[in-house]
Amino acid sequence: MRIVLTSGALPRLEGAADFKRFSLVIDPLLRGDPAPAVAAIGEMADADHVWVRPDAIRAICPLAGDPDWAKGFDAMVGYAAQHGWTDDKGRIRAHIEVLEALEPVEAGVFRDAMRRFASGVCIVAAGEGDGRCGMTVSAFTSVSAEPPLVLVCLNRSAFAHSCLTGADRFSVNILGAQQEETAMLFAGQRGIHGADRFDDLWQQDGAGAPVLTTAHHSIVCAMESQHVSGSHTVLVGRVVAASTGNDDGALLNYNGALRQGTWAA
Ligand SMILES: Cc1cc2nc3c(=O)[nH]c(=O)nc-3n(C[C@H](O)[C@H](O)[C@H](O)COP(=O)(O)O)c2cc1C
Repeated sequence: MRIVLTSGALPRLEGAADFKRFSLVIDPLLRGDPAPAVAAIGEMADADHVWVRPDAIRAICPLAGDPDWAKGFDAMVGYAAQHGWTDDKGRIRAHIEVLEALEPVEAGVFRDAMRRFASGVCIVAAGEGDGRCGMTVSAFTSVSAEPPLVLVCLNRSAFAHSCLTGADRFSVNILGAQQEETAMLFAGQRGIHGADRFDDLWQQDGAGAPVLTTAHHSIVCAMESQHVSGSHTVLVGRVVAASTGNDDGALLNYNGALRQGTWAA
């Protein structure tokens, strides 16, 4: 198995059932100062090695609940101890390897490809009264039906980011074909920020988030988890309420423009 540490993401375990190998692989970006990232799973032993806490591995292992895995892992820790590869705290010594640096695709080429993916447009909103915040998002998708989970991706540079990530409830309001102006307002294109973006078409839902009564559909989520990835935070929400609003087609985001998706029912 190998633990993978990349910048801005939680530690990940690869090859969890392979008990013959044990190493720590880091992103080339962390090479200069790996200690802060390493703190999530253990401590630097020297410049090339790390003391890894076995409980940290159990915490990130997708197979941790499997008794066969638990047995194999305990045997691996025992084997390491016999060979003197553990310390007095029972931590396992791992060699640090550096991931191969992959040249990312050029930003313009990436954006061009993503613009060709047609999506709906939503407003993600949270808070109450003067503490309300919201922003336009097209990075919204269903994750799971049982339990009902969705995700949205929020740029960490958005004003609304800290308010949305700090909320315990948030709504996702799917915009109808006629709501381009609302999309622009909540995308910061009208120079209005924070609670001033909300008018009386917004009502506080019983589940604890502001809901746009004229949206195509609205859902309210309890915050389930958050994941930092690159420039964005991914919010995963457990859907606790859903309501239907207008049904005049969907607002679509495609090829750099907002379009009205209307068709016969
Ligand atoms: C159609 C459309 C889709 C957008 N999708 C996203 C998105 O998925 N994630 C995101 O972080 N920003 C997205 N944005 C940009 C944000 O809406 C914008 O940066 C943000 O609302 C600015 O809000 P602020 O005033 O709180 O910074 C989108 C903008 C538009 C017009």
